[in-house]
Amino acid sequence: MQKPTRISPSILSADFARLGEEVRAIDEAGADYIHIDVMDGHFVPNLTIGPDVVTALRPYSEKPFDVHLMISPVDPFLEAFAAAGADIITIHPEAGPHLHRTLQTIRQLGKKAGVALNPATPVEAVDYIMDDIDLILVMTVNPGFGGQSFIESQLGKIAALRKKIDISGRDIDLEVDGGIVPATAKKAIAAGADVLVAGTASFKDGPDNYAANIANLR
Ligand code: DX5
Ligand code: ZN
Repeated sequence: MQKPTRISPSILSADFARLGEEVRAIDEAGADYIHIDVMDGHFVPNLTIGPDVVTALRPYSEKPFDVHLMISPVDPFLEAFAAAGADIITIHPEAGPHLHRTLQTIRQLGKKAGVALNPATPVEAVDYIMDDIDLILVMTVNPGFGGQSFIESQLGKIAALRKKIDISGRDIDLEVDGGIVPATAKKAIAAGADVLVAGTASFKDGPDNYAANIANLR
């Protein structure tokens, strides 16, 4: 069942020169999770951060680290991100040849396993892995950059996944990522999402505004 909305600010939009303080500030402002976007310049056309940065950030928040891996191959890096302090590790089905095996590995590492669906990836991608996941992430932009516009066609996908999750009776978060601002947050929640990733909208206008930014999304 759809749970109360949780907000997962993406630190991709934080000030990278002060990343630890930014994580602490967004935590204190009411973030439920901390979303960490990992990009490899290959699976997506941008480069961001690696496991050492996650290790360095771990002392700045006790909230779950929601680590979104946009890297291929992904399997060789799972252990490093788990050791760095990730709580949820989300991967893309296109990032490796054996999705089920990758999900099993994440759970064997003692972490929650998520699967991310790109805008063109159909909902059926989760049909045979419902027992193996704790979270489904619907990409409402093409992965790679913050600050893009919400793709409206994904609302139908969110609604279809909400039905699938409810029919399964399993405890699976339905997370939405990309172009989330108060107006699109409302639509995503109405369609059935219960976790919202927001980068630009969370870190807008500096630390004094983070609490209001998060409250507006919620
Ligand atoms: C995109 C990332 C998102 C992104 C969201 O590849 O997965 O998490 O940072 O940024 P906004 O909220 O600015 O669209
Ligand atoms: Zn993300």
